[in-house]
Amino acid sequence: TKALAIAIDGPAAAGKSTVAKRVAHQLSYIYIDTGAMYRSLTLKALTEETDLDNEDQLADLLQRTAIVLSQSEDGQHVFLDGEDVSLDIRTNEVTSHVSFVAKHRKVREEMVKRQQDLVKERGVVMDGRDIGTHVIPDAEVKIFMIASVEERAERRHKENTEKGFDSDLEQLKMEIRKRDEIDSKRETAPLVKAKDAIEVDTTSLSIGEVVNKIVTIVHQKE
Ligand code: C5P
Repeated sequence: TKALAIAIDGPAAAGKSTVAKRVAHQLSYIYIDTGAMYRSLTLKALTEETDLDNEDQLADLLQRTAIVLSQSEDGQHVFLDGEDVSLDIRTNEVTSHVSFVAKHRKVREEMVKRQQDLVKERGVVMDGRDIGTHVIPDAEVKIFMIASVEERAERRHKENTEKGFDSDLEQLKMEIRKRDEIDSKRETAPLVKAKDAIEVDTTSLSIGEVVNKIVTIVHQKE
């Protein structure tokens, strides 16, 4: 069998990272979470009180920022300038600001460059918003994962509640809609299904079913 590149794109909270991680595990591929990179820059920008509307300042900040994704036994870790920020990049504060950082062209150009450097070899599953359209346009497998806003919000709500976090279902719906809108309407590399992507609606599928579907598609291409 031949090692491939698998691009998984789709709107917020559609289950991309959960599925991508499992697919990577089953195939012994590397998983790369590009959202974590935008989240890390956002965390740093918020900490340093950088103006999120200032494209040049953000691009400059990114030049001075090291983001390392690493995989270990206990899952994926994200290091921002050497510090483990795996949890800090998942706060509501970061989530509600990340799309404003990610919409700038100069920020995206640098991120895409870094992401492409991580795909020098095949055998990767990468998830994000522009992977099939910009980061790996020649990926052998492209998946566009969707689910209704209600379903996505409910999954996130259940996840939060189980972790003992405060969670408001209506607020989650609003946040998801808002993020999708900014990501879909931005000028540079908006969230859009690549022409050759396979759409997978996960609204009424379990995680296992989605994983199997994708692994089956991969096996057909190997
Ligand atoms: O996937 P995740 O929800 O962690 O992504 C956070 C945000 O990062 C997205 O809402 C989007 O604004 C941005 N993003 C992006 N392009 C990617 C990955 C994430 O613009 N490839």
